[in-house]
Amino acid sequence: MTINIGTPNSINSTKALILGSGELAKELVIELHRFGVETIAVDRYDNAPAMQVSHKKYVLDMLNSSKLFKLIELEKPNFIIPEIEAINTDTLMEIEKKGFNVIPNASAVFKTMNRERIRNLASEKLNLPTSNYLFADSYEELKISVKNIGMPCFIKPIMSSSGKGQSLVNNESEIRKAWDFAQSYGRAGKGKVIIESLIDFNDEITLLTIKSENNIVFCPPIGHIQKDGDYIESWQPHSLPKSTLIKCKKIAEKIVSELGGNGIFGVELFIKDNEVYFSEVSPRPHDTGMVTLISQDLSEFSLHVRAILNLGIPEKIKAKPSASVVIKGDGKSENIKFIIKKNILNETELSFKLFGKPSISGTRRLGIVLASSVSTKDALKKAKKLRSEISLEY
Ligand SMILES: Nc1ncnc2c1ncn2[C@@H]1O[C@H](COP(=O)(O)OP(=O)(O)OP(=O)(O)O)[C@@H](O)[C@H]1O
Ligand SMILES: [Mg+2]
Repeated sequence: MTINIGTPNSINSTKALILGSGELAKELVIELHRFGVETIAVDRYDNAPAMQVSHKKYVLDMLNSSKLFKLIELEKPNFIIPEIEAINTDTLMEIEKKGFNVIPNASAVFKTMNRERIRNLASEKLNLPTSNYLFADSYEELKISVKNIGMPCFIKPIMSSSGKGQSLVNNESEIRKAWDFAQSYGRAGKGKVIIESLIDFNDEITLLTIKSENNIVFCPPIGHIQKDGDYIESWQPHSLPKSTLIKCKKIAEKIVSELGGNGIFGVELFIKDNEVYFSEVSPRPHDTGMVTLISQDLSEFSLHVRAILNLGIPEKIKAKPSASVVIKGDGKSENIKFIIKKNILNETELSFKLFGKPSISGTRRLGIVLASSVSTKDALKKAKKLRSEISLEY
């Protein structure tokens, strides 16, 4: 079997349409270019990070079915690669039926963007251990569900990402606020929330899992810390007892096999003592996995592209002890400036990425610093020092 890759910007080009143009999409575009793939970056705002490095760009609301449909019919891409959750998945299902190749497949994107669908699939169909959960459509129902689950518990919109609209409720008086907060952020299926019991975990990891035609391969676990539902630092490899790692891999294998298709998946797991709980899964590179830009020979983006193009995935992936720390801004500006101390990259094991985001309004991830060292603890220390040498001006 062979694979054809044409020449970008010619009639025989191999085209990838990337839906979402943030920092993860930007790295993905760069990897696609390395294999001579023509890239088209899409997002709802102009000058998004991936647009700055792609062959073509479109500014479009990807929840708008007819616009998304028209664009796909116009460009006729060989691959449609979702990079965010806010995409009209009905359109992806329809377009897939017409023979377009959605990565990893439209149904996986449809199931994972909705906490109700993925939770029911993981817990009820696959019997994976998860936190206890219930759903509520109204404030009245929520109050009853919180009683049944017990406090503290998490309340989240069934459709949202990066911790948006999410609250930890410790007592009854906080339920109203949590409901209102969820309502202000929920997308499409507005209203419905999930109530999840708190897992008092020791560790939280992302297990990057690559599914290709021939195999399922795992990257070494990535440990991370989240604040307000958004990641602030990650490290790899996160060491785990062998028996715990086996449990993690079994869960990841089950969920990615069920979702199907080729590509990388970010499987989010909570670890309490020797017990492993499934939290959620992204059918695409994961933000905490940006650490692989320094830790692995093949980053999560490179692995995603190799799986998509059917080029093969090595059975064993290694990581040198490394860490990432985010550069998060907080302000309002369309003219963000980074003030960087001279000579801060005076070692090969240090790096940083600035995403080139055109504006900020509130808090926003604008870059990351990366470091490797003899241990993840030391790498994290180096990354934090590097982070302190970059400041922001608005
Ligand atoms: N049931 C739970 N028990 C303990 N911690 C939780 C629970 N649910 C969420 N968290 C914490 O909140 C974080 C964000 O939750 P979750 O992954 O569900 O939200 P998200 O909006 O999808 O975030 P992201 O898009 O960044 O992955 C988790 O990584 C974890 O740290
Ligand atoms: Mg998450």
